[in-house]
Amino acid sequence: MLVHHQRGAFELFQGDSAEILRHFPANSAGSLITDPPGGVGKDGNLWDTFSPEFLSEIEEKNYVNRSERQQRFSLAYYSGTYDLSRKGGALFRKQLQPIFAQSHRVLKPGAFALVWASTRSFHWTATALENAGFRIRDMVAQLSGNGVPMWGNLKPLMDPWILAQKAPEGSVKNNIRKWNTGALNIDPCRVGKRYPNNVILSHHEQCGQECMIGCPIDDLRRQGKAHYFYQSRNARPRNSHPTSRPTPLMRYFCRLITNPGEVVLDPFGGSGSTGVAALLEGMRFVGIERESSYIDIATKRLLRILLH
Ligand SMILES: C[S@@+](CC[C@H](N)C(=O)[O-])C[C@H]1O[C@@H](n2cnc3c(N)ncnc32)[C@H](O)[C@@H]1O
Repeated sequence: MLVHHQRGAFELFQGDSAEILRHFPANSAGSLITDPPGGVGKDGNLWDTFSPEFLSEIEEKNYVNRSERQQRFSLAYYSGTYDLSRKGGALFRKQLQPIFAQSHRVLKPGAFALVWASTRSFHWTATALENAGFRIRDMVAQLSGNGVPMWGNLKPLMDPWILAQKAPEGSVKNNIRKWNTGALNIDPCRVGKRYPNNVILSHHEQCGQECMIGCPIDDLRRQGKAHYFYQSRNARPRNSHPTSRPTPLMRYFCRLITNPGEVVLDPFGGSGSTGVAALLEGMRFVGIERESSYIDIATKRLLRILLH
């Protein structure tokens, strides 16, 4: 196990979460907020597929003897291609479940989890969470205006985030007293005076002073209803990770399910978006990421927060 950085408020580990999590103490983290691979090979990234054979099979069938540029294009083209067979589903769960089971052990009783899932494989992600011991509590739908339509599919404008929980020990009241976990933080997440709900609206990525056509926030504002919803600008951090997440959204998630001072755990840390949000919200962060290039980006981002 390689400890990459230990700086008081955060710890980053490089390696496979399935292995590294086994060394963490039980009942020690206050929440799990994570964005696991979706199983699609996004932008040709092998880390995003649980079935490298599947991608290489596609590649072989269609693109042998093509130029490097064409091959790169082919992988990007095929990203979004899921192995939706039963075997594909079983492989997907087999990869995620042990990591969720270890995360469940590391979480304090009553702690919540928010786990991103793809619209086509969210049932596999939810099943893997449930089989790992979590209770599924809800789903938060994050709507944005900038999905890229893929031939034969609906244009994807919604990201599901599964809300799950480790069972509390005894009553919720006693669990909160003993572990500081067990309830959602409603008040800091109110929209005006309104109760937080399970829909989140994000601006279109290209909204500036003016909103882009199709921005859901603009659409609702026109109908005079925008105040019903939490609004987060969907400006993704500028780094080379293809799925880094907007800081306002991740801060909202941290606030909703974590008390200040607690540890937020992310076993699929990528470029550290969860960590940035956790530190800005006065929480601690423990992240794991397999790829060294992403660890480098995350380290720089987290140190920047600590040093300012
Ligand atoms: C969808 S991305 C997360 C992106 C992240 N939210 C961010 O802000 O950059 C999933 C990440 O999990 C990493 N990963 C996949 N399997 C892993 C494993 N078994 N252990 C550790 N990291 C893993 C990938 O390298 C990838 O960076």
